[in-house]
Amino acid sequence: MASIDYVERIPNNVNLAENRRLLRALEDWQPKFLEWWRDMGPEGYQAKEVYLRTAVSVDAGGWAQFGYVKMPEYRWGIFLAEPEPGRQVNFGDHLGQPAWQDVPGEYRGTLRRLIVTQGDTEPASVEQQRHLGRTCPSLYDLRNLFQVNVEEGRHLWAMVYLLDAHFGRDGREESEALLQRRSGDHDKPRILGAFNEKTPDWLSFYMFCYFTDRDGKYQLASLAESGFDPLSRTCRFMLTEEAHHMFVGETGVGRRYGGIDLRTIQKYINFHCSVSLDLFGSEVSTNAANFYTMGLKGRFEETKKKDDHRLKDGTYTVMALAGDRIVTREEAALVSLNERLRDDYIADCQRGVNRWNEIIKSHGIDFTLSLPHRAFRRAIGAFAEVKVSPDGKVISEAEWDARHREWLPTEEDAAYVGSLMQPVITPGKVANWIAPPARGINGQPADFEYVRLG
Ligand SMILES: [Fe+2]
Ligand SMILES: [Fe+2]
Repeated sequence: MASIDYVERIPNNVNLAENRRLLRALEDWQPKFLEWWRDMGPEGYQAKEVYLRTAVSVDAGGWAQFGYVKMPEYRWGIFLAEPEPGRQVNFGDHLGQPAWQDVPGEYRGTLRRLIVTQGDTEPASVEQQRHLGRTCPSLYDLRNLFQVNVEEGRHLWAMVYLLDAHFGRDGREESEALLQRRSGDHDKPRILGAFNEKTPDWLSFYMFCYFTDRDGKYQLASLAESGFDPLSRTCRFMLTEEAHHMFVGETGVGRRYGGIDLRTIQKYINFHCSVSLDLFGSEVSTNAANFYTMGLKGRFEETKKKDDHRLKDGTYTVMALAGDRIVTREEAALVSLNERLRDDYIADCQRGVNRWNEIIKSHGIDFTLSLPHRAFRRAIGAFAEVKVSPDGKVISEAEWDARHREWLPTEEDAAYVGSLMQPVITPGKVANWIAPPARGINGQPADFEYVRLG
């Protein structure tokens, strides 16, 4: 290991060669990361060449390179979006001050927690998806899975960079802990609920990419507004990669083809959407208010909003429970930031569902997919204690027990979907439950050998 030239191995725009202390921390962490990747990363195919994109710069015109690489040799790089000269803290109590290049001492613990929570999701999803290679519907899909996996690995690198570069020994300890928690493990689970669920089949994978990676988009977008400039720049670049993950999800579900009926698809939507809605946290949250007031985590598209960016007086409409009814209520804007971000997220989710419905309609099928009501099957927030139907009625335990099988995937549904998951690894061939992709990756032809099996 000592002979590896890390400056060469780790593509970066953070001047790694000049920062000996950081370089040493990353040199120390890198073999542990690779060990984690071997143990918990994609099962099988590790020795195969995969046609992957690698981030090599932050140039909007050409930040990625495509080529064959064995996954353990992937060049996980560290990239921050270009600095904006004169950037300021754009919200909260420090509005108008120069953006911080170093961690403000009084926010050290809070900021570290925010970074660790985001960072923890990245390896978690790789762990959740590690068995999917076995049942890939095509080489195209297999490659997309691995692309998502290596990029989540890079996102972990991005967060570890922040921890190592800005949080000293605490940061290095957190970097190690990120490799030690395990998705779904009882003793050392990942931090957030959705990242401890299973991703047992490819329908679940597409749904995860559609709903849960999209939560990632909204979390990253609000962290991209951070007054802590390195975090902002890191997240801005991560968002460019995230777009592909959601594309994999949306087109994956959109290609559903005869094999899986729409009622089952709807159940998977209900499950993955509700699990992902929980990731936004409680409707009313003093934590969210504090993150904002401190200037650490903004709103989605904060700087495009036309208000005072302090939110001390305003209100926001949130959904709440009043007895056995779901009502809307005006809450102080500051404590409602989770709900506001969830609103942005739901609107975005709905746009893709509309596109799926267009596809369904264009096949002359009379069926409309929909998002479940936001109170459906929630484990966090105002609706955690009640049972709610997908159309948003508070129902009794008895009615839930009688009907939840209509709304959520059952063991039989999972077994049926599982039975369809027969691997197809012939170039250009696609499993019979899904349509071929509309176009290849990076303009490649339909029968392209995305993963070299020889
Ligand atoms: Fe990610
Ligand atoms: Fe992602």
